[in-house]
Amino acid sequence: MSRPPLYITTPIYYVNDRPHIGHAYTSLAADVLARWSRLAGREVYFLTGTDEHGQKVERAAQDAGEEPQAFTDRVSQAFRDLTATMGLSNDGFIRTTEPRHRAACQALWKALQARGEIYLGAYEGWYAVRDEAFYGPDELTERDGVKYAPSGAPVAWVKEPSYFFRLSNWAERLLDFYEKHPDFIQPVSRRNEVIAFVKSGLHDLSISRTSFRWGVPVPGDEAHVMYVWLDALTNYITALGYPDEKAELWRFWQSAERLHLVGKDILRFHAIYWPAFLMAAGLNPPSRVFAHGWWTNEGQKISKSLGNVIDPVALVAEFGLDPVRYFLLREVPFGQDGDFSRAALINRLNGELADALGNLANRTLSLIQRNCAGLLPPPGASEAGAAFHAGFVAPLPQRVGERLERLEFHAALEAIFEAVREANAHITREAPWALKKTDPARMALVLRELHDALRVFATLLQPVMPGTMARMLDQLGVPEGARSLAALAAPLPGGLALPAPAPLFQKIQNPA
Ligand code: MSP
Repeated sequence: MSRPPLYITTPIYYVNDRPHIGHAYTSLAADVLARWSRLAGREVYFLTGTDEHGQKVERAAQDAGEEPQAFTDRVSQAFRDLTATMGLSNDGFIRTTEPRHRAACQALWKALQARGEIYLGAYEGWYAVRDEAFYGPDELTERDGVKYAPSGAPVAWVKEPSYFFRLSNWAERLLDFYEKHPDFIQPVSRRNEVIAFVKSGLHDLSISRTSFRWGVPVPGDEAHVMYVWLDALTNYITALGYPDEKAELWRFWQSAERLHLVGKDILRFHAIYWPAFLMAAGLNPPSRVFAHGWWTNEGQKISKSLGNVIDPVALVAEFGLDPVRYFLLREVPFGQDGDFSRAALINRLNGELADALGNLANRTLSLIQRNCAGLLPPPGASEAGAAFHAGFVAPLPQRVGERLERLEFHAALEAIFEAVREANAHITREAPWALKKTDPARMALVLRELHDALRVFATLLQPVMPGTMARMLDQLGVPEGARSLAALAAPLPGGLALPAPAPLFQKIQNPA
């Protein structure tokens, strides 16, 4: 059965800061799912971008002594560069300062207004610029005369005229929606938190500000700019052409799976406000919102003041892109918090990538070069080889696919490396290097079995390590047109001439 197209997004990143590991992480996860889905023959649109309005960005520009537009142009470029550094296959990149986005925000505003979902009132309450969020008095703590939000951000009392969205009217309909779509919020623990929050009652939401200028003007009342989260969330439909429902890409909102990947800190905005805005405007809500956990660095919370921010560019320069991509998704279950440690990265690079996978490929391909004149033996399998294939190789694409669809990246990779371990056990047991003289027919069979397994591993690992797996597939002699999941059904012809192998991964010799 063919799957509907997939629309997958990352959060759009605030340009008050340089890109760090948290940004790279969400984008990487989205990239792997996008690449996997394309490999499985699914149509995909993958979007990322930058969130450039609001008081926090305005202040960052002031601190840098620049005009907001020049400042955001500069910092947004750093995020665009990050897509290249991380090898992202995004189809679009959106900036909220683009004219198309201003138009989309204003159109959504008018749609909400036309449906009676917006009214003018006055806002009085606690606001945290760092989070760009309002908090109730019961959520705050006080230290040295300063009040703080649960996130640790300081809050200030704000009093100004404001437009409101009738969020309080949507609590019941949201709860009903969560109930009918049990997979809407994942993981389940997060779903329960959101439901409890909505059950505790929703207040109308202040959606405009008059105390600063750096935002999208409210149509018909330009003394107000839109609340930055209404502006930011709208990016997901701007990019597909909203409000032009005839736009080429609009079908990715109308009839695709709409999946937002976000960090746990911004789940509330995506799982409560966003579906409420959309339903109130008569648009489809997202299909799924998945909240991932946060990284610490060698056991410590990551923060600018501690000076332990992990720079993805430096990390990739030191260890190579694919090992970093592999590590970030292999080390910690997506959805849980995890710790970044150099020792753990080096362990996985040396042990799993270089030793288990890289050496297996190199040993097998070197033996084919040396003992089979570099020609792939014809298809076939010994009894032991057939058992190894039936148990670990043939079922692997489906095992991996099921786990990736659930965003269990670590479990998908674990399944592949379990099969890699089995393949290593198989080569050790069969010792093909000793068979050249005693049983060359069996040697050829064993090498072919291992080659078939390596082709499956490399095909399935392409979404996670695209560059290295392209090299591995080259070495295995797999033509470029035969690297999809569907292509695995057709065995490569015997007698195929294979190029000389070369090591795939560089071990870290003297870990610092
Ligand atoms: N601009 C908003 C998102 C608007 S989406 C319509 C925003 N931007 S952000 O740049 O502050 O954060 C982007 C993402 O980075 C969030 O999903 C957040 O969870 C993630 N991370 C920030 N620090 C992180 C870690 N230490 N670890 C993992 N992810 C982290 O919020």
